[in-house]
Amino acid sequence: MSVNIVDLVGGYVRLRKQGQNHSALCPFHQEKTPSFSVSESRQIFKCFGCGVGGDVFAFVQQIEHLTFPEAVTFLAERSGIPLPANPAESSGENVERMRLLEIMRLADEFYREQLPRSSDAQDYLARRKITSETISRFGLGFAPPGSQIRDHLSSHGFSLAELEKCGLVARGEGGSCYDKFRSRVTFPIQNLGGQTIAFGGRILGDGVPKYLNSPETPLYSKGRNLYGLLAAREAIRRAGFAILVEGYFDCVVPSQCGVANIVASLGTSLTEGQVHLLGRYTRKVIVNFDPDSAGVNAALRSIDMFLAQGFQVNVLRLPHGEDPDSFVLNHGVERYRKFLKSSESFVDFLLEHFIRQQRDPRSPKGKQEIVDHVLPYITRLPNRIERAEYISKISSRLMLDERIVMTELRRQARSTRRRGDEPGDKSGEEPRTPPEPTLAERTLLAALISDAHREKVIRSLEPDLYLNLVCERIFDQIVQQKNQSSEFCIFTVRKALQDDDLDLFDRLSLQSAEVVLSDEIIASSVEALQDLQCDRISRQIQEEITREERGGVPSPRLEELLRKKEETQRRRRR
Ligand code: UTP
Ligand code: MN
Repeated sequence: MSVNIVDLVGGYVRLRKQGQNHSALCPFHQEKTPSFSVSESRQIFKCFGCGVGGDVFAFVQQIEHLTFPEAVTFLAERSGIPLPANPAESSGENVERMRLLEIMRLADEFYREQLPRSSDAQDYLARRKITSETISRFGLGFAPPGSQIRDHLSSHGFSLAELEKCGLVARGEGGSCYDKFRSRVTFPIQNLGGQTIAFGGRILGDGVPKYLNSPETPLYSKGRNLYGLLAAREAIRRAGFAILVEGYFDCVVPSQCGVANIVASLGTSLTEGQVHLLGRYTRKVIVNFDPDSAGVNAALRSIDMFLAQGFQVNVLRLPHGEDPDSFVLNHGVERYRKFLKSSESFVDFLLEHFIRQQRDPRSPKGKQEIVDHVLPYITRLPNRIERAEYISKISSRLMLDERIVMTELRRQARSTRRRGDEPGDKSGEEPRTPPEPTLAERTLLAALISDAHREKVIRSLEPDLYLNLVCERIFDQIVQQKNQSSEFCIFTVRKALQDDDLDLFDRLSLQSAEVVLSDEIIASSVEALQDLQCDRISRQIQEEITREERGGVPSPRLEELLRKKEETQRRRRR
């Protein structure tokens, strides 16, 4: 295997040479000073903070969430090494994947080769001010009319079924196959390994649909990719933030002009997976969507998702209804940079948006409604000081007493937790998201992840205490692991978790560095859980009391229950 661990890891984190080794901030746990180290001579990595370590395979397995055979395939594909012809390692699924990737590679090559042959396509790109350097950097191509990609790939021995699986051909009425992308400029969508996994295609000039996109395929899931991330990630690291735009040209044109830390969500609804992906590179984003109503709604939704994953979010609204592409071309990239610099914090954007929506924003009722709309976003913020700062912003903008807004925030935070509600889109099309953990839970989890506090917290965490909580399974795994071996390992915990729990754990552990920890805060969080537990017991007792009372006669059982109830209430008050 000729993958160098330094190159591999360097694709995910920023490495700094330090003596014999390279060091970095660990990508597997949240830290402020680097304790993650890579040795080129030994081809291994190790984090002295969270304990994870291993070779290239271990790294890929853990960072890409792959099984060992999948990691082997991943690295083989990346380095162009043919896979070992070992049937045990090349499962049917992997073989299929390799074939589909090869199809996409050939299609990409084919489209790129067609561009110089079409003067219409070249004229179109020239009109849109795309340079030849940009064409090759983003791999722009041209899908010719007719069924050329079908014929070209068939001649390479791929079946129509395989081409259909890749989304390159579609089936017509009589079952005949035709090219999906015809007479369109193509934008390859690449994964972080640089492999083409999908395409977007723009019609030359006017017409509908303006864009066609690859469907979901075994290689491509829209919700887990961001257009342009591969080209942008270095620039994102350097700049320390990312710009999120909607469209292909909105990404390509500013990038061509030197604003390279830019990615596109492709269409309007950003997904949690996309936010997660971007979160590997930065925790700061400027959302620059179109000013139309779809764009504004998309911005509202994305703000919520970014905040939930601990991002710092600004919003840029360009004047005159322009998108980033047209703005850069019409007013120059320096103006664009200036606008980026003066982008507003998400809270100002929300305030202005909801104020504009009110007929009478100065009336008490208007103010109440604005506050009701903005606060759900503020409850997303994990950091109390930040929350307080935004509260003061909201209060002064609406000329309200801060204490009133603060009280509203607490009230909303409580009811949001109960309902598991989301701000923003209330149409209910999205699948319901699982309820969010309480502040006490988040604090305790942060303490469990921190080496300095773990022992203490585990001692006070009886299993009963976290029964039925959102983080129940996460706490359980950490405690179990602690009981089994003496050394805590974030990976073993991750491996034992699935789906929502895993996602939650990753999100919370990424945010955990923001959580302020002290003995008092931990103690009060434990108390909060104890209170919850008492409430739960009280409710159970009360239910039983109600049942007993239905009998109509005082029973010894009833007396016992009443005694228990009183005792629990006393305990709760303490
Ligand atoms: P816009 O309609 O805002 O177009 O769509 P645009 O990006 O400004 O396109 P140009 O400048 O006219 O070429 C924003 C994005 O939404 C997706 C595309 O990803 C597009 O870039 N979209 C739009 C589609 O997928 N299909 C469509 O028909 C339209
Ligand atoms: Mn545009």
